[in-house]
Amino acid sequence: MIKKIILVGAGTHSHSCIELIEKEKKFSIYGFIDFKKSNSNLIKKYRYLGSDEKMEGLRKKISAMIVLHAFGHPANIDKIKNIAKKFKIFLIEDAAEALGSYYKKKHVGTFGDIGVLSFNGNKIITTAGGGAVLTNNKKLANKVLNLANISKLNHKWKYEYDTVGYNYRMPSFNSSLGIAQMKNLKKFILEKRRLFKVYKKIFKKNNFFKIFQEPKFCKSNYWLQTILLNKEQKNLSEKIITFAMKKGIQLRPVWRPVHKSKYLRKYPKMKLTNTTDLENRIINLPSSPQLTKLFN
Ligand SMILES: Cc1ncc(COP(=O)(O)O)c(C=O)c1O
Repeated sequence: MIKKIILVGAGTHSHSCIELIEKEKKFSIYGFIDFKKSNSNLIKKYRYLGSDEKMEGLRKKISAMIVLHAFGHPANIDKIKNIAKKFKIFLIEDAAEALGSYYKKKHVGTFGDIGVLSFNGNKIITTAGGGAVLTNNKKLANKVLNLANISKLNHKWKYEYDTVGYNYRMPSFNSSLGIAQMKNLKKFILEKRRLFKVYKKIFKKNNFFKIFQEPKFCKSNYWLQTILLNKEQKNLSEKIITFAMKKGIQLRPVWRPVHKSKYLRKYPKMKLTNTTDLENRIINLPSSPQLTKLFN
């Protein structure tokens, strides 16, 4: 059971708070680990990021790991948590897309030192814009609350500030929308899970792609319905998306892997072969819970 939940104006604000806390400790540096290769050998290898001469100034210890529960499907969090524990690495779960998803009957976002949710307009439920930080660490919760609350010290009527602060609070107007939306969460999850079954049945006999399915021991909210083209079809992704869009079907590619962003290219990374391969093969299908009505 999570003891502290701090509502913020966007999922991204939670990341900003975490980053600010890390910066305070002066050991922040980015590094990129490949999808499905998060074993401890790799962490050992990358324990001291920036061993490359060019990175001399950046030689710092890995202090935190962010794991993403992509498209609402829980990551292999037991394995990742063991690595974090073994190497004493702070674990951040990006569960922005995964509200209502469970790993072994426990809600994702509640395994790490800190979890992040998003209530952006495209998420399973929305507050028009918003997010939440989940943690059992009281000190950390107070720090996030302080940063999100323009660094105002907790006092009933005094206005005192202890550092540079930020206004990352979720406005009450948005939170009231969230309360109304929460009542629909179960229904939306049921509909998204039904939509998965419909797609699975329709595409059962095709030889060109597989449809993403929740991992074993997990219950996914199926936020997005995702297909994975066979390796031989990987160059067709753009053609398929363009064709479908012309027909009025909103397909989408996966987000561009962050390590390719210009400002992040200088940071250490392993050979991200799985990530690059997946980038070319993933296509997201229309995923609105309302679509199930078409198949009644
Ligand atoms: C994986 C992931 N992380 C973080 C975010 C950021 O959340 P927000 O849009 O609420 O800032 C999003 C969604 O937008 C997301 O999908």
